[in-house]
Amino acid sequence: MSQSVAQNTVEQSAGGRVHRLAVIGGDGIGPEVTEAALTVLDAAQARFGFTTERTDVPLGADNYQATGDLLTGDTVELLRGQDAILFGAIGSPAVTPGILERGIILALRAALRQAINLRPVRLYPGVPTPISGLTPERCDLVIVRENTEGSYVGGGNTVHRGTQAAVATQGSVNTWYAVHRAVDFAFRLAQQRRGRVTLCHKTNVLVEAGALWSDVMEEVAARFPDVEHDYVHVDAMCMHLPVAPERFDVVVTDNLFGDIITDLGAVLQGGLGVAASGNLNIEGTAPSMFEPVHGSAPDIAGRGLANPAGAALSLALCLASLGEGAAAAAVESATATVLADLPALSGEQMGASTAELGERIASVLAQGGTPGAGDGTSAEPVAGAGLAGAGSAGAGSAGAGSAADRSSLMTQLAAVQAGLTA
Ligand code: IPM
Ligand code: MN
Repeated sequence: MSQSVAQNTVEQSAGGRVHRLAVIGGDGIGPEVTEAALTVLDAAQARFGFTTERTDVPLGADNYQATGDLLTGDTVELLRGQDAILFGAIGSPAVTPGILERGIILALRAALRQAINLRPVRLYPGVPTPISGLTPERCDLVIVRENTEGSYVGGGNTVHRGTQAAVATQGSVNTWYAVHRAVDFAFRLAQQRRGRVTLCHKTNVLVEAGALWSDVMEEVAARFPDVEHDYVHVDAMCMHLPVAPERFDVVVTDNLFGDIITDLGAVLQGGLGVAASGNLNIEGTAPSMFEPVHGSAPDIAGRGLANPAGAALSLALCLASLGEGAAAAAVESATATVLADLPALSGEQMGASTAELGERIASVLAQGGTPGAGDGTSAEPVAGAGLAGAGSAGAGSAGAGSAADRSSLMTQLAAVQAGLTA
């Protein structure tokens, strides 16, 4: 996402653009979905005339068990020198829960100052959703999750563990700086979309953190008179999201609330297999990292049963961050086209293996027409399959039908990025 990093480090070689990409396959189904995403990347490179210098970075359970290392300073430095990171999944039943997740995933997000966890919730045409009656036109929102604070770094203490005298405290950290960064990003993004930001929190109980978030919302909102804003408690959000997702355009929220409501968002989209995310360094000081929202799913690992769509859509976000907007839109569109024909979204019933689906997306991509610059109305295989604002169909409450509605999330991100680095 960091335009300054991405664009300053793009080298011209043999007449083409070169991006340095770290690849962390990780554990469980991580390596197989990442491999499928790389097949898609190969096709994107061939069609759009750029190349990548890929560096495999062995992080995860195997590496931890072999070396005792979680995330070393050397690895952080190696990653810091890249333009972007493609990430599969980390977590294994062979390691006590929490060690790898905290020691690698959360450590990476913090070390690389990936302040925003961007999680689009978009239902693609033809994808079965468990929410009865939900249509793609009604489901197109983006959740902006603060990615470095809250209860994820709250600290705490336990005394007398294992006895009936046990006492555990668990804090939550909320700085004006990080909250402001997330809220400001959300308003900038909404400005490129349907013009509405919703703060999701629990201000009626978490009154201290809640007041800080609300204060920052008002402060930032004053600078964006063209963007509407409102507030929804996190418990109410769990009720509204499945019933009326069209109510939301950009939702900004605390780290833990964001973790929870994005799993719910993934359900709306057809399941975790389809959900993508970007851990964005918006300051341009280190690479952003793109990962499917599903975890390592060790129960189905190594059998080709995982859907690579979440990984492919994360690749699309990655390409957008690298300034390859046309490729990003085409990857998204090709993924949506393949998704539309799947009899099921995961497991044996998908009718094709993880690798086969990667090849299928790659071949649709290779044959596809030229997408307009993120214009969801272009002649791609699935009409409007780009992360086009569903608001163009009149679902949004604000500005429905405007030109901005029809631009893809990829284009929107590029505009936000340009504004941030201007
Ligand atoms: C996610 C995951 C992580 C999180 C875990 C694995 C630490 O659930 O990316 O949503 O809580 O952020
Ligand atoms: Mn999660």
